[in-house]
Amino acid sequence: MTPHSDRVRGLLSGMTREEKLAQLRIVYRPALADAIELARGGIGAVFWPQSAAATNALQRAAVTQTRLGIPLLVGLDVIHGQRTIYPTPLGLAASFDPELARRCAALAAREARSGGVNWTFAPMVDVSYDPRWGRVVEGFGEDVLLTSVLGRATIEGFQGDDLARDDAIAATAKHFVAYGASEGGRDYNTAEVSTHRLRNVYLEPFRHAVDAGAAAVMASFNTVGGVPVHIHRPLLTGVLKEEWGFDGIVVGDADGVPNLLAHRVAGDLAVALQLAHEAGLDVEMGGSGSTVDPQDLARIDPARVDDAVGRILSLKERLGLFDAPYVEEPVEIVGPTAQARSLVREAAGHAAVLLENDGTLPLRQDARLLLAGPYATSSDLLGAWTQSFAAPAGSVADEMVDRCGPDRVAVLPGTGFFDIDEPGIEEAAEAAKSVDVAVVFVGEPSTISGEAASRSDIRLPGAQERLITRIAATGTPTVVVIVTGRPLDVTAWIDDVAAAVVVWHGGTEAAAAIVDVLLGTVDPAGRLPMSFPRSVGQIPIHYAHENTGRPPRVRGFLDEETIDVGVHGPDNLSDKFTSKYLDDELGPRYAFGHGGGYGRFVYDSPTVSSATLTLDQLINGMTFDVSIGLENIGDRTADDVIMVFVEDPVSRQAPPVRRVVAFERMTLEPGERREASFSLGQDALATWFTDVEPPRREIEPGELVVHIGPRLDRTQSLSVVIDA
Ligand code: GLC
Repeated sequence: MTPHSDRVRGLLSGMTREEKLAQLRIVYRPALADAIELARGGIGAVFWPQSAAATNALQRAAVTQTRLGIPLLVGLDVIHGQRTIYPTPLGLAASFDPELARRCAALAAREARSGGVNWTFAPMVDVSYDPRWGRVVEGFGEDVLLTSVLGRATIEGFQGDDLARDDAIAATAKHFVAYGASEGGRDYNTAEVSTHRLRNVYLEPFRHAVDAGAAAVMASFNTVGGVPVHIHRPLLTGVLKEEWGFDGIVVGDADGVPNLLAHRVAGDLAVALQLAHEAGLDVEMGGSGSTVDPQDLARIDPARVDDAVGRILSLKERLGLFDAPYVEEPVEIVGPTAQARSLVREAAGHAAVLLENDGTLPLRQDARLLLAGPYATSSDLLGAWTQSFAAPAGSVADEMVDRCGPDRVAVLPGTGFFDIDEPGIEEAAEAAKSVDVAVVFVGEPSTISGEAASRSDIRLPGAQERLITRIAATGTPTVVVIVTGRPLDVTAWIDDVAAAVVVWHGGTEAAAAIVDVLLGTVDPAGRLPMSFPRSVGQIPIHYAHENTGRPPRVRGFLDEETIDVGVHGPDNLSDKFTSKYLDDELGPRYAFGHGGGYGRFVYDSPTVSSATLTLDQLINGMTFDVSIGLENIGDRTADDVIMVFVEDPVSRQAPPVRRVVAFERMTLEPGERREASFSLGQDALATWFTDVEPPRREIEPGELVVHIGPRLDRTQSLSVVIDA
C-alpha cells in the first residue's frame, strides 16, 4: 500500500466519522440543484453534470461550502469516446492495434477532462465466450492476452503519466470478476467458475490492469462460488488488495449494494453496505436513490473506513483536485476537432474484418450500386454506451452518394431492423437486377447491444436475412456489411454472398470509414476478437478450449449408425464417441483471429533464437526470440496481423489447445519485406497452476509448440524445449 501524503493523513485525522462515511459514496442525481445539495453534504463523488460550468458549480459547493473543502471525484462512463466516438471496445479489439486503442482513449480523456470528468468507469476487461451477452460489445473479446494488452493500452491512454494533467482521467478496470461467464449469457446472472479458470482467464486482465496502474476497479454484479462479488472478501481484499497490492479504489457497480438484498445475502441495506465495505468495497455506487443513509453504518470497522477514505483522498490528490479543483470553462471541448474525426475514422477502418471476399471488394470505381438494408440509411452507428452529447454519425448512403455521385448509387433499405413482413424486400430485389453490385447493410441497432441486452438468438433480427437471400438470389454480386455489437450467427446466408465485412458500431466517423473500406482506400485487415458461432447452440465457444479426452476429428450426423459393442467390439472409440454435436459441423463458423484484408502476403519459415532454454534462464530474463519474414506481394499498401500461439503437448493440468502469447499488426508497402519478431519469456509462457494452494503462476519444463502466422488456421510451427 502506497503511504498516504501528509495532506491526506492530516485530513483523515481531522475528519469526523460522518465526514468519512460521506466520502464512501457516488450518487447519480440528474438535477444539478440536487447534486449541489449532496456536494454541500460532503459526498465524495458525483456523476458528471454534463458541462464544465455545472461541474465547477459542484466543485465550488464542495470546496467552499463544507468544513474541510474536499473536492469531488466526478465520474462518467466514458467507454469509447466522450464527444467524438470511436469504435466500441469489441470493434477496437478487432484492430489488434494497442497503440490505436491508447490514442483513442487519450482523445476521450482529453475531451472528458476538459468538461470536468476526472474518473471514467472503463475499460471493461471481462473476457467472455458468450455472444448472447450484450456486454461483449464493451469488452475486448474471448482472448486473455488481447483483452489484457488492450485493457492496459486503454488505461495508459486514459491516465497518461500524470493524473493531474488536464487531459487525464482516472481509469476503472471492470467488472471484477468473471461477469463475462454469466450463465446463459443472461446479464447479471450467476457465474460458476473454477479457481483454475478464474486464475488463467478472468483474473488475468485485471492483474494486468492493476499492473498498468488502474486507479480504480469496479466490482461486478454476479456471484462467484455463490458469493456476490460485492461482498467477496477473498477476491476484493485477498486477491486484489493483498496479493496484488492494489492501492486504488474499489467501487461498487450501480446499486450493486442494494442488489445484495435480491441476492438474498443481506436482510437490509445497512447490513448490505457493512458487508460490502468490510469485504473491501471502498465506494458504494448508488443509482437513482437507493443508497444508504451513512448514519446506519455505525458498525463498520473504523480502520476499514479509514483505509477506504485514505484511498479516495489519495486518488483526489493524484488527480490534482486539492490544488486545482476547477476546469477552464472556455476551453471545454464540446465537439470533434478535425484531428479527432481523423483518428476515429482511422480506428473504424482498422476495426473492419473481412469475413469473405471473392474479389468483389473493393468495389470498382465505375460500378453501379444498390445500397439496401436498414443500415444503408440509419445513422445509428455510435453503439452502446454513448451519451446524448456525443457527436452523431452520418449515414452510409449519404456518404456513398457524396463520394460516388447520385447516378451510380440507388438506395432502397428494403426492410427495417425488426420488420417481419416487409414488402420493400421485393422492390429492393427487383432493383438489384439492374446494378453491378448490391451492398446490403444489416445488423443490430445499438438498442439491442450493451448492458441488459442479452439475446437468445444471435441471428440478424427481423427480415434482414430474407432481404440478403432475396437480393443474392437475383444473381447480382451481393456484398453484406454487418454493423453489430456482438458476433452473430450468419450461417443462413453467408454462403450466398460474394463478400461480407464486419464493421461493428464504428462511431462518429463510421459511415466514412465503411465507404473507405468498400472503395478500397482503407484495408479491412482486422481480425475477429471473438468467435462467430455456427448457431447459438454452440455457445459457449472459443478457440483456447481444452482438448478433452475425446477430441472430435469429424462432425456428427443425425443418421448415425448405432454402435453395438457386442457387434462392433471394443472399437467403439471411433469418431462417434467424441465431443461434438450430431447436427452441426465442428467449430465456429469463423474462429477467433479470422480475417485478412485486401493485401496479399507470403511468409518465410519461422525461426527461433534457441531451441532450448532452461527454467533458470527464462526466470532470469532470457527469451525464445521467434521471427517470421513476410512480404507484401500485392499492388497496394496493406496491413497484416501476425499472431504467435503456444501449444503445450503435455502439462500437469489440461492445457488449452492453443493460446495467443503475442501479436503485432503491421503495414507494408507493395513489395516490402518485413521481419516480425517476438520475444517469448517467462511472462508469456507462464501458466497459473491451481493444483497448489495458493495458486502459482509458473513455467512448466518440457516441450512447447510455437505456432506463428496471420490467422489461427494459417500458422507454421516450430518446437522449443524448456529444460528443468
Ligand atoms: C452500470 C454498469 C457499469 C457502469 C455503471 C455506471 O450498471 O454495470 O458498467 O459503469 O452502471 O453507469
